[in-house]
Parts: sequence; C-alpha cells; structure tokens
Amino acid sequence: MDETTLPPFESLLALSAQTVEDLLRRLLDERLRDGEILRPSHLLAAMRHGVLNGGKRLRPFLVLESAALFDAQGMAALRVAAALECVHCYSLIHDDLPAMDNDDLRRGQPTVHRAFDEATAILAGDGLLTYAFDIIADEDTELAPAIRAELVLKLARAAGIGGMAGGQALDLLAERKRPDEAGIVQLQAMKTGALIRFACEAGAIIGNAGAADRERLSSFGVAIGLAFQLADDLLDLTASADTLGKATGKDAAAGKATLAALHGADWTRKQLAGLVAQAEDLLEPYGEKGAVLRQAARFVAERDH
Ligand code: IPE
Ligand code: IPE
Ligand code: MG
Ligand code: MG
Ligand code: MG
Repeated sequence: MDETTLPPFESLLALSAQTVEDLLRRLLDERLRDGEILRPSHLLAAMRHGVLNGGKRLRPFLVLESAALFDAQGMAALRVAAALECVHCYSLIHDDLPAMDNDDLRRGQPTVHRAFDEATAILAGDGLLTYAFDIIADEDTELAPAIRAELVLKLARAAGIGGMAGGQALDLLAERKRPDEAGIVQLQAMKTGALIRFACEAGAIIGNAGAADRERLSSFGVAIGLAFQLADDLLDLTASADTLGKATGKDAAAGKATLAALHGADWTRKQLAGLVAQAEDLLEPYGEKGAVLRQAARFVAERDH
C-alpha cells in the first residue's frame, strides 16, 4: 500500500485500539477461568479502571503491525498485544502511586489509588502483571507451545529487574543522585524502552521470522523506545495537563533526570528526528510493507499527547 493513500495514522491507531480494548474488556470480565477460585469484584473493578480508561494503545499496535510484517495477523497476535498492554497499565498504576510519582490524574481520570485505595492499586498492578503471562501461556493463544514460552520469557525479561522494573528503580534513585548522560539513556532504555522493544520483537517472534528479522525489529524497537521517552519528557516540559490527561511539569519539580530538561526542547527535537531516521532506515528492507511502522516511528517522535 502506498503510504500517501493510507488514512491518517491516528485513525489507524484508534481503530486498532478499539479491537485491543474489546479483547481487554473480555479478558477482564467476571467469568472465572479454569483454576481460579473467585475474582473479587473490587479488585476486578480497579484493574478495569486501570486498563479500560483510554490510552493510546501504542504498544499493542506495535505488536500487531510488527506481526503483520510477517503475515501473522489474527487472534494470537491480538492476545499477545493485550497481554503487553496489561503489563504497561500495571506499570502506570504503580508509577502513579504516592511512593513513586504520586500522581492523581492518568488518562484524564483519577489514578487507581485515588479512585480506590493504595493497597487495591498495588494489588491491581500485581493482578495485571500476572495476568499478562496467563494470557500468553493460555492455549487460546494459538501459537506453538515453544513460541508461547519464548514470548513469556522475553516479556518477563523486558518487564523485570533488567528491564522496566529495574529502570523504574533507577529512575527513583536518580532523583537523589543525578546520573550522567549515559546513565539517563540506560535507565530510559530500561523503564520505557524495554517494553517497546518487546512489542516490536514479539511481532517477529509471532510471525516465526528468522534471526536477522528479529534482530532488526528489536533494533527498531530500541530506537523508537528511546524516542518515546524523549518525547514524553519533552511533553512533560512543554504540554498541558489537559491535552495529556496527566500532570505536567512534574519531572523538573521532582528533580527527575531527563535529557529534555538537561538539553532543552530544540536539542530534544533534533535527537528525535535522528532516532526517527534511524528507525526508518531499519525498515528499509521491508519496502512498502513497512509503511505503517515507519509512520508509527514518526508518530512516537512528533506526537502531542
Ligand atoms: C506513558 O506511556 C508512560 C511512559 C512509558 C512514558 P503512554 O504515553 O503510552 O501512555 P498511554 O498508554 O497512552 O496512556
Ligand atoms: C513512566 O515514566 C515509565 C513507566 C511507567 C514504566 P514516567 O513517570 O515519565 O511516565 P508518566 O509521565 O507518568 O506517564
Ligand atoms: Mg515515573
Ligand atoms: Mg510518572
Ligand atoms: Mg513522564
């Protein structure tokens, strides 16, 4: 498909978000799954509040589009996409807790600990993180068992001590002891980059792509993952809470280590352009098939929300 004939990127993203959300709603219904004893209604309500509250659903989109690159459309990719969104939403619920960023607003609504209470928010996060692995491992995710196991392992590595959770720990530490530039890049590659990289690599794994393609998609994910947090930090510096649906100006106030704060908006925009060019180059071998992912890279860098 010619890139210029595609509908605007955001409408594609919104369409895909709807499909992902439909599945998330079904996954978070009251029906007991095999082996479960009870889904406590207040915990389920908190989990639903943290998940079914808007959100760009960019990570699921990246899973679906990366899988499509290898002709792997369908329910299996959609379930992996939904699982990743569960991990992302858990990370946001915990990120907003008083002991972390202490935020009251997320996606234009009260954060989970404000709408419920702190203990319930912590448990909602726990429930979502665990559920992600349940969703992928379940045989309803119709992939060969070895592929499901690989996805579980890769997601665990991306979310855990050497990935998102580790990055969040470094992010909090950095409020007291400012890291150097390489340290900031590393912590951002962990706290934000790891899940985005997983999203892109997962598509190649689902599509049974060879090692070179997996590597290429993984590098694409690294580039746009860095761009994603740079853009988030830029928006924290320049955008309004109204457009973002979350508080802004908080990074500087908390003494957060961000490159946008260190170097300013112009430098950040130049860096973003460089990362987009790098990401686009990586998709070169896929020709027109890579058009949507190239648009995604530009959206990540140029987004205003
Ligand atoms: C925000 O992620 C948290 C970061 C990792 C910077 P998103 O900007 O993707 O948040 P939602 O999912 O659209 O709300
Ligand atoms: C959050 O980074 C990264 C994760 C949730 C893992 P931020 O703390 O900058 O995200 P926002 O700005 O609250 O969305
Ligand atoms: Mg944070
Ligand atoms: Mg935060
Ligand atoms: Mg932020």
